[in-house]
Parts: sequence; C-alpha cells; structure tokens
Amino acid sequence: MSIRESNTVTMDQIVALCKRRGFVFPSAEIYGGFANAWDFGPLGVEMKRNIKDAWWRTMVREREDVVGIEGALITNPKVWVASGHIASFTDPLVECRNCHNRFRADTLPGAAIGEGGRVTLLAELPCPNCGKVGQFTDPRNFNMMFKTYVGVIEEDATVAYLPPETAQSMFINFALVQQTARKKLPFGIAQIRKSFRNEITPGNFIFRTREFEQMELEFFVKPGTEDEWFRYWRQARMDWYLSLGLRAENLRFFDTPQEELAHYSRGTTDLQYRYPFGWGELEGVASRGDYDMRHHIEASGESLSFFDEETREHIVPFVVEPAGGVDRTMLILLLDAYDEEPDNQGTRVVLRLAPQIAPVKAAILPLAKKEPLVNLARDIQKRLQRRHVVQYDETGNIGRRYRRQDEIGTPFCVTVDFDSLEDQAVTVRHRDSMAQERVAIVELPEFLAERIEG
Ligand code: GAP
Repeated sequence: MSIRESNTVTMDQIVALCKRRGFVFPSAEIYGGFANAWDFGPLGVEMKRNIKDAWWRTMVREREDVVGIEGALITNPKVWVASGHIASFTDPLVECRNCHNRFRADTLPGAAIGEGGRVTLLAELPCPNCGKVGQFTDPRNFNMMFKTYVGVIEEDATVAYLPPETAQSMFINFALVQQTARKKLPFGIAQIRKSFRNEITPGNFIFRTREFEQMELEFFVKPGTEDEWFRYWRQARMDWYLSLGLRAENLRFFDTPQEELAHYSRGTTDLQYRYPFGWGELEGVASRGDYDMRHHIEASGESLSFFDEETREHIVPFVVEPAGGVDRTMLILLLDAYDEEPDNQGTRVVLRLAPQIAPVKAAILPLAKKEPLVNLARDIQKRLQRRHVVQYDETGNIGRRYRRQDEIGTPFCVTVDFDSLEDQAVTVRHRDSMAQERVAIVELPEFLAERIEG
C-alpha cells in the first residue's frame, strides 16, 4: 500500500520535501535559523499564490455579493481597544519554576477550564519538559499582539500593534465599502493579508507560526438570518476544500464548546483536518452577531449601520465569518497529496496535487540535447509560459526528469522527441497514472488549459 492509501504521511516527510525541493526553508538558516519562522521558496510562493487565487476567485470574483479590500497593517490602536483585543486577546501562560519552560496552561493535560475561560491546574501536574511535579506558576494572561512604535519616539502615545487578524479592516470600513460598492444586505467584504500573533506554543512546521497569512470573509446579514447564513458558509467552505482535491475522510466539522468560544463569538464551527499529530483546526466559521459593529459604533461615535430603503430603518448588521489560513491550507494540501509508492527503480515520490494548486503546471523535456529538439522545446515553453508556470529541463535521463517533476507535483510532462520534428506532436505524460498520449503541438495550449483550469 502506498503512503497516501494508508494515510501514514509524517510531518518529517513534508518538512524534508519542502526543504529539498524549495517549497519552504527554515528562516535565516545562515545565522542558525530562527525558531518557528519559515521562508517560502520558489515553489512555495507559487503554491501559496494558487491557493489565494482559488480562494479569491470563489469568494470574490464569482460572487456578486462579496467585494475585496486591503487594509493597512499598522493602523489606529483605537481599533484594537474597540475590538476587545487589547483586553481579551490573551492566552493563559504558565512557567515551570524548575526548568523555566513556558506553556499555554489550557493545553496542559490536567488543566481545568472554568467560567470565563479561567484555567486552573492540578497541583500534581508534572512539567512536560523536565517532569518535575507541582512547579507551575499561576496562569497569567499573556496578550498575543505584537507591539511597535510609530515614529522615532518610543512612548505610550506612539504605540501601535501588528494585526492579529484581518477582520477589523472590514468592520471599520463597512460604511465606506457599502456606499462605494453600492451593496445591500446581505453582502460580504473579503481580505487576504498577513496576521501576527505572539503565540506561546508555535510549532508543527507552518501549522502555527507567529506570522501567517489569513483569508477572511466578513459577511454582513440582517439580524435574524444569521443562523441560515452560518449553515450556508459552513458548508460552502467545506465544499471549497473538497474542490481542491482534499480527501473527505481527512476533513470534518467540529463545533467549539461554549466555554472555549472566542470573546466575540456566538457560535463557531471549526473545519478540521486529520494532521499526522491528530485532528486540528483548519478554518473557523463564526457567528459574531453584532459584537464588532456595536463596539466600533460606540467607540468611534460613527454610524456603521445599513439604511434599509424599504423599511426606512437603520440596521446594525450581524456578521458571519469564515476565516481560514493560507499556510495551513498549504500544509494540508501537501500532507494530503504526498505519496510514496514502490516501483522498479526503488520508490517513486509523488505529490498528487490538483492541477490548479500545483506550483508548476507542465515540464517541457526535450528527449535529447540536440539543437532541433531544443529549439522546438524552447518554442513550446515560450508559448505555454504566457499562461502557466512551466519548467524547462534538458538534464539527465528522461526517467530521472519525470521523477523530479513527480516530486513537486507537476501534473504534466511534455516530451519533445525526434518524431515531434516530423509530426508536430509531443508526448504528454500524466503524473498520477503515468499514462502517455500524443498531442498535436497546436492543440497543446488548449489541452493543458482545460485540465489545469478545470
Ligand atoms: N478573525 C477570526 C480569526 O482570526 P482564528 O480562528 O483565530 O479566527 C483563523 O484564525 C485561521 O487563521 C485559523 O483557522 C488558521 O487557519 C489561521 N491561523 C490562526 N492562527 C494561526 C497561526 N498562529 N499560524 C498559522 N495559521 C494561523
């Protein structure tokens, strides 16, 4: 059975492949790295871009009821006071007095979560690092926002924050977007942008980092219709992940228990993935009520309501929010696609990524490094690269070149051979089945586009 059939991929296999082939590198490796920071290499950025494009297409371009924005990262700190982040965007932190390691108290086995999310620890609790019992300090709330100073003077008046989510840009711009885009309820505002959280326990490669990219939609609805829209977005988001080729058995819904809900949430369903370390969050769909809008109305004194022409009423909309992560989506796509299968040359490593997600769509491979073949292959490359990311490779034997492409998930290899000069056709090899077929060069762009763009 192959790795993918038995669902036994490990994080180590993905981390190693990502480094070996240029998807993701440890950040600042020449200086010894920097814990939990990762740099995206040439294939990583292409793959991330494909994920973001797929999200933007589904969530914005193909809908009439959603528009996009890009808000400033560093903005007025009053936003974070009104949103509740300064007071409540905290994790309970404990330190072991013996080894001085720090932990998120609520994730320790033996932690009890009480009213208002208060965490208490069993007195006999051993430290997961040094094993010593009963050495934890009392949990104290640690704010996860990164602070900085705007301008040259480092004083309280110049404090600003790096955003821990993208959502607040949509709330504070609600009225401007609604008026300029001439939208009526229900409608949504979408954004893809970096977020920053000073996580106490980052880890598991790009699953939890301090700097990551989010894809968020704030969908504004009339009060009373929020449950219907919540159910709609829950399913729509699951369908989107399935459309990327992820396997249904590795995805599930998980309703967050009441006591664990975020400070703004009236109900949250997580979409979870079966990671090698267990089921974990991939995206949260939250019913936020009018929490955010009311807080910004009160704090700013501005009217952020929608005027309904029919009823002549000012409505403060309720919000349903599907919020996902680009990095986590990339991680699960890699985990879900990774395969190793035995073959006559040892092991074939293949990433069975959907063509729309694969960083390289086609490899152009002249069978020999001879001028007429190379010229024709270069010509084909030029034609295809106007529309797609393609690679040209003339080095090594053809089997080896196929393997290199399999490992990075390239769905199509286009081989240019001596017959091509005569019949103006090429051999297209399919990554998953390894089946080969002859395609006329004039038909190649359309042949590939149909299969890549769906
Ligand atoms: N505006 C709501 C919000 O930010 P969240 O559940 O905290 O909700 C949404 O974040 C998504 O962002 C998560 O499901 C995850 O995919 C991603 N995410 C959150 N924190 C992350 C981190 N430290 N590293 C990587 N991705 C993260």
